[in-house]
Amino acid sequence: MAETVPGLLREIATVGTDPTRGGYSRPVWSDAELTLREWFVDHAGRRGLDVETDRNGIIWAWWNPTGAPLVDGVVTGSHLDSVPGGGAFDGPLGVASALAAVDRLRARGVRPSRPLGLAVFPEEEGSRFGIACLGSRLLAGSIAPERAAALTDPDGVSFAEAAARHGLDPHHIGPDRQVLDRIGVFLELHVEQGRGLIDLGRPVAIGTSILGHGRWRLTVTGEGNHAGTTLMTDRHDPMVAAGAIITAVRDVAAAVPDARATVGRVAPVPGGTNVIASTVHIWLDVRHPSDAVTADVVRTIHERAQDIAAAEGCAVDLVEESLSPTAHFDAALRDRLSGVLPDAPLLATGAGHDAGVLSTHLPTGMLFVRNPTGVSHAPGEHVEDVDADAGADALADALRDLLGDPA
Ligand code: GLV
Ligand code: MN
Ligand code: MN
Repeated sequence: MAETVPGLLREIATVGTDPTRGGYSRPVWSDAELTLREWFVDHAGRRGLDVETDRNGIIWAWWNPTGAPLVDGVVTGSHLDSVPGGGAFDGPLGVASALAAVDRLRARGVRPSRPLGLAVFPEEEGSRFGIACLGSRLLAGSIAPERAAALTDPDGVSFAEAAARHGLDPHHIGPDRQVLDRIGVFLELHVEQGRGLIDLGRPVAIGTSILGHGRWRLTVTGEGNHAGTTLMTDRHDPMVAAGAIITAVRDVAAAVPDARATVGRVAPVPGGTNVIASTVHIWLDVRHPSDAVTADVVRTIHERAQDIAAAEGCAVDLVEESLSPTAHFDAALRDRLSGVLPDAPLLATGAGHDAGVLSTHLPTGMLFVRNPTGVSHAPGEHVEDVDADAGADALADALRDLLGDPA
């Protein structure tokens, strides 16, 4: 049984479609994401892999023909959750390619001399609890378990409550040395999220680095009041300040080479058509290769926001929610991948990944597969069938080499 990546992805093509936003909405532990987890577990079982879910909700599927202790394995995988209204490939392409790579290795008669692991990480996008790569952060100890447990989703459900509902013990989430020791190297295949491979005219690239990025929340407070009875001159309207702050975010980042700053989510409180809001939450995403520059950009945005808010008789507060410094993938692994895949160019990415979080603990690398639209985190994200299978071929070649069974 050797399945193609497009064939695997077709099986889940209707799971979590979002009729309102378009594309897919598959937040962690939603019905859609749970269905995808079951789909993965089913496929792993059919391949005879040993499947378990660890205490942080990461699914592991192991092929360990030597029967030796599970340490120093070669691990590949990605995530199955999505941003709201996301594309079909961000996450699932890496998971489907991992399954397809197992089939390819088996078809070639490979008998790994190290364990091969497939991993599915929960809450990679942070679209439910706000912090991206929450599963890998917990595993690696990059977030305090108490802080993760207290995170809440838009319905006020805490991560601890949701974890408990899905079979985890919220008192036992957090760093897991035993699981980390099982990973000797992690290689994540992912759809490319920009135009790099279009411009290079190649189907597959080897990742070099992940742009430093972080999330902040600006809370603008004013005075809630009546839309009809409050004169325009009497208002302290945080929505008006928020509008100007969002424009300032764009202007500040546009003036700094290589900086990216985005407001993709705004929540007025209480949020009524005939109500002047009392508070507006603005979520801010800022990215730059230099962490010092990122800090400067955020500081400047905060200063501009304070001036704007004051001019409207409002106040603004800034809280850092997460920060991931620029991650450079393991140089020796990258060179080894280049040896196995000599036609694959090297490519940096502006998108965050579990491979970036894990890179401070163990050698990690990435493979990117061409996205002919260059669009991601939106329904327009795409991968041609031929490129998806080229990605799985490249992944299988790389895994075979890492498993100590060179072609
Ligand atoms: C995740 O895809 C991110 O870059 O935010
Ligand atoms: Mn992703
Ligand atoms: Mn993503």
